Amino acid sequence: GMKLIIDTDPGIDDAMAIAYAAAAPEIELVGLTTVFGNTHVHQSSRNARYLVDKLGLNIPVAEGAPFARGEDRHAPSEHVHGPEGFGDFTDIPHIGENHALTGAEFLVEMARAHRGELVVCAVGPLTNIADAIKLDPEFSDNVAKLVIMGGAVYCPGNITEHAEANIYHDAKAADEVFAASLPTVLVGLDVTLKTLYETADFEGLAQKSPDMGGFLRNISRFYLKFYKEVGGLEGCGLHDSTAVIACTHEPMFDVVETGLQVSLEGSDIGATRINPSRPAVRVCRNVDGAGVVQLFTERVASLP
Ligand code: BDR
Ligand code: CA
Repeated sequence: GMKLIIDTDPGIDDAMAIAYAAAAPEIELVGLTTVFGNTHVHQSSRNARYLVDKLGLNIPVAEGAPFARGEDRHAPSEHVHGPEGFGDFTDIPHIGENHALTGAEFLVEMARAHRGELVVCAVGPLTNIADAIKLDPEFSDNVAKLVIMGGAVYCPGNITEHAEANIYHDAKAADEVFAASLPTVLVGLDVTLKTLYETADFEGLAQKSPDMGGFLRNISRFYLKFYKEVGGLEGCGLHDSTAVIACTHEPMFDVVETGLQVSLEGSDIGATRINPSRPAVRVCRNVDGAGVVQLFTERVASLP
């Protein structure tokens, strides 16, 4: 299968994406790297290790960046993902240990070991990816593909009117990643808000997959409440799962090739803007949303 590392800040929709990757027959998940974002990085790692154990995976979790470039603090998105990142589920058990390498070091090592084969799916702030690019000049060539859940190129943002959360949380790192020459696919809110997952979808999933599906249904209650209160939406975006699906099912997406930059100051800080002089990125502009929802359900429902 496709060798995949998910760089993640679990996070409710991150947990869904990791479960999807574990269930997808064409994916061989070879590790997780963690980053601050939805919660603090230690909590991201703890949550990642909990999921690895729950999914019966035998893969490393390498802990990455605690803060954005040049920052020494981070305010987690507790109102969206709950106090520990998994909604109302708290006191998440501490299972196993992190890998000895940092997230960025692990990415560099794995890209070297699986030259031309490793796909990296980044579904949190892009700090670890920018660090890996800095750490190893060959990283960009070694990686087969980088798929990013982030940005809002043709639609409004979610953390501000202009910016999407993952890009906003480390705008400098994101801009560095877009300045680098990597085969990059951007899966932004432009498409992930077309993959809404509703309460009934979660209930169906929990019936077919009582353990994992039931867990995802339980932690998602909090997330669904947020989507309803803030966006008036009857479901939540399958943000991070849509990015994992784009790793293996790119033909489900309409793609525009263009360079990108990130606004680094002013009221639109964190906005993803088109810049044709930058290296071309495959920006997803449209998606078969129902197809993504169906694929997600099918695969995750096959888990116990
Ligand atoms: C992204 O931000 C995070 O809150 C989600 O996990 C997702 O990666 C959506 O903007
Ligand atoms: Ca995420």
